[in-house]
Amino acid sequence: MYSDKVMDHFNNPRNVGEIENPSGVGTVGNAKCGDIMRMYFDIDEQGVIRDVKFKTFGCGAAIATSSMATELVKGKTVQEALTVTNQAVMEALDGLPPVKVHCSLLAEEAIHAALWDYAEKNHIVIEGLKKPVDDIAEKEEAE
Ligand code: FES
Repeated sequence: MYSDKVMDHFNNPRNVGEIENPSGVGTVGNAKCGDIMRMYFDIDEQGVIRDVKFKTFGCGAAIATSSMATELVKGKTVQEALTVTNQAVMEALDGLPPVKVHCSLLAEEAIHAALWDYAEKNHIVIEGLKKPVDDIAEKEEAE
């Protein structure tokens, strides 16, 4: 049911942990299952993501997608990081079962939340980035 890549990233997740004094940090949750993902970015003066770490309290698919998402954004500029959508993460993992597609959304939302935090701290605008709804209660209302 899961691809080899999903199993690999679930069993050996890359970039697990925290970054002290991150350039940006984002925490998102899925109101339905209660799973939570936090992503930390270390971004250099040129706007390149030089390091990224994550912590996910969630299902196996959420762990595998956050692991793959960190691999995909590392080395990219903040603008390029926006191309790491849940679709891109799923493709990189050779797909997810349909019932697990929503888990991959957490990874995209966590990237956006961390980028938003970075943009706010540095008073910059990242073109195409929308303010994330990172409050789980707010999100439930919006649904
Ligand atoms: Fe909650 Fe997968 S079941 S993120």
